[in-house]
Amino acid sequence: MQSTATAVETVPFLDLKTMHAPLMADIRREIDSVIDSHAFALGPAVEQFERAFADYCGTKHCVGLNSGTSAVHLALICAGVQPGDEVITTPFTWISTCWAISYIGAVPVFVDIDPQTYCLDAAQIEQAITAKTKAVMPVHLYGHPADMEPIVKLAREFNLAVIEDAAQAHGACYQRRTCGSLGDVAAFSFYPGKNLGAFGEAGAVVTDNAEWADRARALRDHAQEGRHNHAELGFNFRMDGIQAAVLSVKLRRLDQWNGHRRRVAGWYEQQLRDVSGVFPPTPTEWAEPVWHIYAAQHHERDALRAHLNEHHIQSGVHYPKPIHLQPAYAHLGYRKGTFPEAEALARRQLSLPMFPDMTEAQVTRVAEAIRSFGT
Ligand SMILES: Cc1ncc(COP(=O)(O)O)c(C=O)c1O
Repeated sequence: MQSTATAVETVPFLDLKTMHAPLMADIRREIDSVIDSHAFALGPAVEQFERAFADYCGTKHCVGLNSGTSAVHLALICAGVQPGDEVITTPFTWISTCWAISYIGAVPVFVDIDPQTYCLDAAQIEQAITAKTKAVMPVHLYGHPADMEPIVKLAREFNLAVIEDAAQAHGACYQRRTCGSLGDVAAFSFYPGKNLGAFGEAGAVVTDNAEWADRARALRDHAQEGRHNHAELGFNFRMDGIQAAVLSVKLRRLDQWNGHRRRVAGWYEQQLRDVSGVFPPTPTEWAEPVWHIYAAQHHERDALRAHLNEHHIQSGVHYPKPIHLQPAYAHLGYRKGTFPEAEALARRQLSLPMFPDMTEAQVTRVAEAIRSFGT
């Protein structure tokens, strides 16, 4: 006998397939053109994307790279960070922010997060500055800008470089200025799941500083100054032509996608407002976030997550363990309890589905499932 039960559709965490569908003809044509040109590493498609992305960010230069991790790494080098220097950053981020500091032999110095923005708490930075501090690196976490005005002011006072880790914040604005243009240099990731994602790995550095951009361009290509002349220790951090071609097509849709993410966030806000136990994020009045992640909080996060799973709703946790408590950073000597806001968020944070084609009905499914938790 045939079953009459209809399968419950999963609410995905992210739906790249639907997002890409209307663009696939253009993307395939652009990929074909890179294949025809045989400019697979760097080349005209990368240069074209670099120009478009610099314009988008409102910066003079963009240097296309092979990942966001490489972008943070080169941003730090260009800002003059040296072995033994200290870089003030957040303990609540994707680990790459700190890897890049460590690759240089510099030391991450953590400051707790602001509980509203989930980003570096500007008010706590000054007490972490020492004679070794060289730079401050805020992360615009989940697509919400860090409070940059006091950070930049303090950095100028203490002669520190400001490096934005904008890997999650393509198109986000702070006081009407685009993230990536707010400090001295910024790093972006184009990992496929990002608001602007490649069809593989990619990243970029943006800056107004022509000297730093030139150095990043050389460093990504084995630090060549002229063919076979290696000016310093270099890297192979080149962007692929195919990734640049995909990114150029997708960049034209970014504002539209971010706009829809804002609508989705609005629906969540309305529908979760009076659901007991759940705390939706509360953006500040000076930010236009781009909702890379919709990060709610709940005291019984793991049980709620299992409940959502039973209701065919995908979710994520970004991030369950702050960096100061990661085994890889045990040598820094931080103890549990040092950064209470970061640690509380790590216990309670729950990433709900969020993507450009998400429907109001899907948001309602998520909200209803949360409402039915524990009832
Ligand atoms: C805040 C942050 N910084 C850096 C990176 C590194 O980017 P990639 O994965 O492209 O190396 C990511 C990527 O997830 C990120 O979220």
